[in-house]
Amino acid sequence: MPSKPTASSRLVLLAFLLGISAAAGHDDAAARRTMEQFAGFPASDDGDGGPSSDFRVDSEGLQRQIAELASFSDSPAPSVTRVLYTDKDVQARRYIKGIMNQLGLAVREDAVGNIFGRWEGSEPGLGAVATGSHVDAIPFSGKFDGVVGVLGALEAISLLKRSAFLPKRSLEVIMFTSEEPTRFGISCLGSRLMAGIEELAQSLRKVVDNQNVSFLDAAESAGYKLHLEDLHSVFLKKDTYSAFIELHIEQGPILEKEGIPIGIVTAIAAPASLKVDFEGNGGHAGAVLMPARNDAGLAAADLALAVEKHVLESGSIDTVGTVGILQLHPGAINSIPSKSHLEIDVRDIDEKRRNDVIEKIRRSATQISKNRGVELSEFKIVNQDPPALSDKSVVDAMEFAAKQLNLEYKNMISRAYHDSLFMARVSPMGMIFIPCYKGYSHKPEEYASPEDMANGVKVLALTMAKLSLE
Ligand code: GLV
Ligand code: MN
Ligand code: MN
Repeated sequence: MPSKPTASSRLVLLAFLLGISAAAGHDDAAARRTMEQFAGFPASDDGDGGPSSDFRVDSEGLQRQIAELASFSDSPAPSVTRVLYTDKDVQARRYIKGIMNQLGLAVREDAVGNIFGRWEGSEPGLGAVATGSHVDAIPFSGKFDGVVGVLGALEAISLLKRSAFLPKRSLEVIMFTSEEPTRFGISCLGSRLMAGIEELAQSLRKVVDNQNVSFLDAAESAGYKLHLEDLHSVFLKKDTYSAFIELHIEQGPILEKEGIPIGIVTAIAAPASLKVDFEGNGGHAGAVLMPARNDAGLAAADLALAVEKHVLESGSIDTVGTVGILQLHPGAINSIPSKSHLEIDVRDIDEKRRNDVIEKIRRSATQISKNRGVELSEFKIVNQDPPALSDKSVVDAMEFAAKQLNLEYKNMISRAYHDSLFMARVSPMGMIFIPCYKGYSHKPEEYASPEDMANGVKVLALTMAKLSLE
């Protein structure tokens, strides 16, 4: 058996390696050598517990797990629908905890069901290096959004274990509760609460879904019986993590189009979401003549067009707006809509420009209600989040890893939001993107290749290994 390296000997070896890595020809063997240096002893194939000579991802195993997880769905394959605290979500949670246990991680859950799998390092008192993402899936979406950052992270841990790596800082995989806003209209619910946002803790006490089920009842049905004071226990303590890295599909077309295997995210665009309700008198579709109507449905249609107009007026390609939900009441062909409900998503990499668009939407909603004689019964900004910047220390580590693996990378902005947006408030943050087919996401055609996923897992593993030793 090779003798156990001390933390300081590992650091000396790492420093030596950093010195030579710039000069070394970057080939696949460089990553293996890096792992040997990290592990503190040379590769050995004699089965005595030394590191394997390959720094190879178990792609077949990862694909099998992705397929198995996709089978927990409330819509037919190839689509996936997995909504917070439903039976399918509970099955997916059980599946993830099973893998964490198999890997020998210490598993715990917080009050709202964020799940943590920890591999204790030689200095457990230091802030841990964390990674993770989500496995909830919006209606009729694909298999990969979020899932790659959970199952891929677990494979990265497995790879480090197979390489006989010994972490100094503990490594932790997090499966966040409800990154998607589907059920309660709150995006990144788990990570937002971990970031200690008091208004969220307050609003979770009273929020209900569209079937009038409260958050607390929904959580209880999934096995998380919550007392109100428990919500604060989710808040992360300062310095819990020294770094957080999320692996994710790009969800846009750039990497695939440019043939670049790795994206290193430098910033996440600022998202916002709004809820708007109009109310009119409704009435019979034949008997009420046009001049006598105040049609809440047409008010919603006017506002949807106004959203597009204000977004385009910003003059920047980076401003985007979407009316993803538009509901009419009572929803009968022969009844004038008496109520309408819109949910509007507005994003930009420039927070002020995004806020200006929201203000214009608000003014339009007021004007439309006057023009059409309907009441604007609600105009609610559900969230209006600032953008987040990746931390230089994490970006440097990701770039180091990509170079060691001889993988071309591109620094880029994430236009989608992620749990990293909130983890950046409590930890230095960085994200690794991999290409996805035609940039498709949030639809059943979403696809990422096993090769690209394996590359992402390796970059993640090496990044975590490096940060664990710092
Ligand atoms: C995340 O799912 C997003 O909508 O960006
Ligand atoms: Mn998503
Ligand atoms: Mn996602």
